[in-house]
Amino acid sequence: MKIEDWRTANLGDLVDPEMGWVSREIFVSPEIHRLEMERLFLRSWLFLGHESEVPKPGDYVTRQMGDDPVIVARDKDSRLRVFLNACPHRGSMLCRADEGNKMAFQCPYHGWTFGNDGALVTVADQFDDYRGRVDFNDYRLVEARVGTYAGCIFATFDDELMDLDSYLGDSRWYIDMFFSKTPGGVEVLGAPLRWQAQKNWKYGAVNFAADGPHALAVHGPVTQYIVGGDAFPREELLKIAKTGPAIRMENGHGGIFINGPEGAPPWFGFDPELIETYHRTLDENQIKLMEYMFNGVFTIFPNMSWVHFPITFSEQQYPAMFFNLRTWQPTAADRTQIWNWFMVDKEAADWYKEASLRAGVQTFTAAGTFDQDDAEAWAAINNGSKGTIGRRQRSSYQMILASEEDHITDFPGPGKAYASTYSEMSEFGIFLEWRKRMMQAG
Ligand code: FES
Ligand code: FE
Repeated sequence: MKIEDWRTANLGDLVDPEMGWVSREIFVSPEIHRLEMERLFLRSWLFLGHESEVPKPGDYVTRQMGDDPVIVARDKDSRLRVFLNACPHRGSMLCRADEGNKMAFQCPYHGWTFGNDGALVTVADQFDDYRGRVDFNDYRLVEARVGTYAGCIFATFDDELMDLDSYLGDSRWYIDMFFSKTPGGVEVLGAPLRWQAQKNWKYGAVNFAADGPHALAVHGPVTQYIVGGDAFPREELLKIAKTGPAIRMENGHGGIFINGPEGAPPWFGFDPELIETYHRTLDENQIKLMEYMFNGVFTIFPNMSWVHFPITFSEQQYPAMFFNLRTWQPTAADRTQIWNWFMVDKEAADWYKEASLRAGVQTFTAAGTFDQDDAEAWAAINNGSKGTIGRRQRSSYQMILASEEDHITDFPGPGKAYASTYSEMSEFGIFLEWRKRMMQAG
């Protein structure tokens, strides 16, 4: 179908909210990818980075919002700003570096220069030609709305979109648990890693919302090794993997908690010296969920996710909790650039930060054990779904049909919680939000 046809088609037909079916067309169609940029990425608060990456006036990083490059800058008054990374003169990309510190950005093409507050400062040696004839205010950098929550920087180019707090809604309670469990909150270790994956971006977002059954099928051997190898029966592992709540929240956010094996000590894998701090900072219900957490995986709609669990591949190394935060950055219908940040509590000891970073690198990066498993699986889905017949098929999320009655009524956190990570309720919540947004023309 051409994009004009999709524009007028009822995109709601591609996701069946009652029966749990999803058309595979939405994972392979370049035209739907294009419409997602307009209807979804343009109209969402998008995660761009963390305040600890740009602590000082003049600091900047370059990032991506949908298919547009942007600059995230802290201006001379310490205000965070997000600009389209395109020169208002003729559209050249203004800043080519990944990060740096600059009070002004000079365009490499004709030399126009913009302050890090977005104002055009000089048109270089064309000044005499322009004098008195043009208004510099017409040439401000295109600026997005910026919001922060728990140090996370979000932006949107949509003036009509609800404010960030309303957008995050119930997910703020969970964001606090992960990002603000100490007074200093988290910080980023090093620069974010980036790599390409052969898949549609939604596979990652949905998988982290989170796909319980794939854990043992795809990651079984490595997961078994982590929890004790052959000494730990697969049935036990299955029990652990299944028995965690899956939480579906408003605006398409969702995630899961998985507790450790029976008898595992509380705060397993956290920095032992911060446990008292956690007890002071988190509320009673947050502690209830976090204290025995072995694995927490969440997606903030549309494309921000995180995964947090303890691991070590060496008996000499403490099984530190890694905390990998990422975005699933669409670059085409079947290509995703994955951005991965390593987070850690700011107050953690240096040895712990190093162990956490090592655990994060060894698991959820391009060369990490878990991401390699997932990358192969996602590329295989892409290959199986993109053909003429393949794209006419539908993907199943029909475990939702059995899951509604497993709703936990006394769950300590906000959102709607379901008894099992195998429920598909939190994953399918992403498709329901996708459906709602994609049906809104304009
Ligand atoms: Fe930037 Fe001309 S395109 S100065
Ligand atoms: Fe996985």
